[in-house]
Amino acid sequence: GIIILDFGSQYNQLIGRRIREMEVYSEIVPFNTPLDEILAKKPAGIILSGGPSSVNAPDAHLVEKELFDSGIPLLGICYGMQLTAHLLGGKVSKGVKGEYGKAELEIVRSNPLFTGVPRKSTVWMSHFDEVEEVPEGFEISGRSGVIAAMANEKKNIFAIQFHPEVTHTEEGPKMLENFVLNICKAEKNWKLTGYIDRTIAEIREKVGDEKVILGLSGGVDSSVAAVLIHKAIGDQLQCIFVDTGLLRKDEGEKVMENYGEHFHMNIDMVDASERFLSKLKGVSDPEEKRKIIGKEFVAVFDEESHKFEGAKFLAQGTIYPDVIESQSVKGPSAVIKSHHNVGGLPEEMKLQLLEPLRELFKDEVRKVGEELGIPHHLVYRHPFPGPGLGIRVLGEVDAEKVKILQEADDIFIQELYANKLYDKVSQAFVVLLPVKSVGVMGDERTYEYTAVVRSANTIDFMTATFSKLPWEFLENVSNRMINEVRGINRVAYDISSKPPATIEWE
Ligand code: XMP
Repeated sequence: GIIILDFGSQYNQLIGRRIREMEVYSEIVPFNTPLDEILAKKPAGIILSGGPSSVNAPDAHLVEKELFDSGIPLLGICYGMQLTAHLLGGKVSKGVKGEYGKAELEIVRSNPLFTGVPRKSTVWMSHFDEVEEVPEGFEISGRSGVIAAMANEKKNIFAIQFHPEVTHTEEGPKMLENFVLNICKAEKNWKLTGYIDRTIAEIREKVGDEKVILGLSGGVDSSVAAVLIHKAIGDQLQCIFVDTGLLRKDEGEKVMENYGEHFHMNIDMVDASERFLSKLKGVSDPEEKRKIIGKEFVAVFDEESHKFEGAKFLAQGTIYPDVIESQSVKGPSAVIKSHHNVGGLPEEMKLQLLEPLRELFKDEVRKVGEELGIPHHLVYRHPFPGPGLGIRVLGEVDAEKVKILQEADDIFIQELYANKLYDKVSQAFVVLLPVKSVGVMGDERTYEYTAVVRSANTIDFMTATFSKLPWEFLENVSNRMINEVRGINRVAYDISSKPPATIEWE
């Protein structure tokens, strides 16, 4: 397969996915992974990714120079190009203003990376530093305003300043394909049906006759993991579904119907809503609420799992991006996201982990889910945060507000499906503000809460734009909410993007 050395660019996962789409295995490892460990994986090619640091900085992210003598084809992207130039004796300097956004690439000397690529095309740039002089043995192969590409064909080392993995780079897919399939001649052996069969066999082998417990949330990852494991070991799998009372409307019933009845899985449903609500009483700080919900979840799950004595394994829906994030050199983006995962499980549980989706990207998890017979709408559900409606009822949470929010949110989601908009947005939900305002209904003055409709479009959830939903659609959603949900008399639409806003309100 292809190894991607991670220097911290937010686009790295995209590179990994693009390669897997070619049915070639790709793996993302931290840039400071020792060279012999990298070579032991026998990669067909190595990509040096982009990243936020500067090769001239005292604490620059470097690699062992011998990497360039390994004989393995290399592709440096953005920072990866600067690093290649820097380590091999070229010169990298601070640009005057940097280049951000679209630029025109002109190929000045073609090479195997550019086979089938027109002389001029649009590329996506995002850099401040630039290569000023290419190292010995290299030729300049492309220019934008700056040296945009260089290569040492004899050594199979290629480098580009722009990002081929970003959709704005017109010929990006072609270039990546040239590198992976023609230059590296990587084997096409990454097929998801093969993955399912192999993983089922592995689960059977590992688990034997033992029992496995799994926390089923109804979200994509835990559901696909559950169905896959169930397929492997049947009733040896016991799912636990914790109803925190902070879930979407009728979530518990739907999970029982979709996975209990349809897939015949054993699901123990725990109604813990009162426990959660009473712990949240009087608390309005978002981080405090997150901590309480996370802690309570672990406590409930722990108690419940003791009912299933003799379980030897704990299954989790960990997916590849979770693995990459947990191993990554903590860039600023990693810190921003650290609060997102509801705490781990207590050490003393002494269960062995079973994580059958650890190698898969989200879109691969979805494909596996569909392959396993999970209906499309379940596999393509929007993400839902661990603390759930606990952070969508702004400020202090109580049962009444949760109920109001569930009803309003349900209307919005129903309408998105009905108007075929659900799959066009990345995440959509309603937020309940703790503010009352005056309205009029019939002849009466009302004084009720405000609901905010939020919908975002994003690839990676790190940056996002608000969805431009049609006015008529929003009008209908607003009318329905105000007419059908007691407690709401005003609906607002969130038109902020991330950054500087976030997708959630808390
Ligand atoms: P923000 O609000 O940071 O959200 O733009 C980005 C993505 O993360 C989700 N999110 C969370 N997920 N626990 C989670 O499991 C959390 O505490 C949490 N906070 C935000 C959010 O729904 C969006 O998909």
